[in-house]
Amino acid sequence: MDAIRMQGIVKCFGPVRANDGIDFTVEKQEIHCLLGENGTGKSTLMNILFGLYHPDEGEIYIHEKKAAISNPNDAYALGIGMVHQHFMLVNQLTVLENIIIGKEQGGLILDRKASEEKVSQLIERFGFQIDLHEKVVNLSVGMRQRVEILKTLYRGADIIILDEPTAVLTPQEVEELFKILRQLKEDGKTIVFITHKLNETMSLSDRITVIRKGKVVFRCNTADTNEKELATQMVGRSVETVVSQKSGTVGAPVLEIQNIRLQDKARETVSLTVRAGEILGIAGVDGNGQQELEGMISGSQRVREGTILICGTPVEKLPVRERKKLGLGYIPSDRHRNAMVPSFSIAENFLLGYQEEPEYCKKGFIRFEALKKDARKQLELFETKCAGLDQQIGQLSGGNQQKVIFGRETSHDPVFMLVAQPVRGLDIGAIEKVHKTLLELKAQGKAILLISAELSEVMNLSDRIAVLYEGEVSAEFENGTYTKEEIGLFMTGKRAGGMGK
Ligand SMILES: Nc1ncnc2c1ncn2[C@@H]1O[C@H](COP(=O)(O)OP(=O)(O)OP(=O)(O)O)[C@@H](O)[C@H]1O
Ligand SMILES: [Mg+2]
Repeated sequence: MDAIRMQGIVKCFGPVRANDGIDFTVEKQEIHCLLGENGTGKSTLMNILFGLYHPDEGEIYIHEKKAAISNPNDAYALGIGMVHQHFMLVNQLTVLENIIIGKEQGGLILDRKASEEKVSQLIERFGFQIDLHEKVVNLSVGMRQRVEILKTLYRGADIIILDEPTAVLTPQEVEELFKILRQLKEDGKTIVFITHKLNETMSLSDRITVIRKGKVVFRCNTADTNEKELATQMVGRSVETVVSQKSGTVGAPVLEIQNIRLQDKARETVSLTVRAGEILGIAGVDGNGQQELEGMISGSQRVREGTILICGTPVEKLPVRERKKLGLGYIPSDRHRNAMVPSFSIAENFLLGYQEEPEYCKKGFIRFEALKKDARKQLELFETKCAGLDQQIGQLSGGNQQKVIFGRETSHDPVFMLVAQPVRGLDIGAIEKVHKTLLELKAQGKAILLISAELSEVMNLSDRIAVLYEGEVSAEFENGTYTKEEIGLFMTGKRAGGMGK
């Protein structure tokens, strides 16, 4: 039986046909992966199913009955729940409160006991490990996601949509999520899963639908396909993994980190150097000091001990703007908070942080023509999908927002690039492009610090690697010295005996 049947779905945003006649079918009790490039209409299609957007054309059948879904309440009434990429939880409330908010048992009088009982039963049945009375603010990303999933279950969802749920998870958290999803399937639930990671698609799904430019281009059983075929179907050409060649000339130190303390609990301080023409990769499980390192170099977090030099100038007391003037280019891990203003246009976002640069500002006036010319060039370079420079950046798909930021930060001839989780949410074609660009910047003599939770990314691009564990460097070595498994051990606390060479 079909759990979901969407027929002839069309949805336009101005001139953009985000969904262009999509037929999408998911059988009951299957895990179905929805694949496609950035900005190809995946989130749009699922937002239609969840009642957040209204299609211009097309019909939806749920469990083979025609459905009218005008808002998320209608969706829930039909048993459809959705976990968005950006969680919608209230930080100061507990897990339990977040789950039952707006949907308490016992009508108007909040019967907390009954609600708690029901949530506890769900937790037990699906093997979630979570403390109901912990405040959400204290939870890791993986835990927050579980709260979101529990919320959909509590509301009776038996079709669960997850929009890029693994983009922000550590590999361990991904495994735990997959266990939960398989358990949900056993229990009769139907799951739609959006991802850019083909290995996840292969290991988790029963069937796959690929969309490109708003149209379905490929459908198959997972057992009948492979990663290579999927990559080609998504992008319309074959895609290569970009791997660094050993660099020629490494120059003088550009970034010098001297004895900074990343976390209070750390016994040792951290010292690292990145030279012109090299990429230093920071590996490690998220939460081991990466965020602090990023914050202290970029200027959003105070350095209480030690110093950071860019081209010999101590920057730890300088505001972000001054650091940029010294040649810092910065791709933040949290682009929504640190890199863009969603309600501003793409052109305005392209100006952010560079409004005082002489190329864009003359006698206090913004030189829009010069700005737009540069912005246009970067948009083309990264094949950014948008309606034009005047479109609000918040309307772009997640991956395309990242492309705008990447173009902005690399186009001002930076001396040093701080790059954190640069391909989070990007499709495979865009990953290839970003990785090539990073290697080109290196070849031009830029110094690059690459912080990434994806070990394969760090290993493919770096000249040297430092591993962070509990706020300390557990190993620092030339790339190629250790295997993936050995680096995995450093990530869980094993120490390398000095500099591995
Ligand atoms: N609210 C909106 N207003 C205007 N345009 C929008 C809106 N939502 C989506 N779009 C446009 O529709 C197209 C499809 O976007 P969508 O978010 O569905 O892509 P996606 O496949 O989910 O991409 P990604 O993998 O990057 O998340 C994009 O060109 C996007 O800019
Ligand atoms: Mg999306």
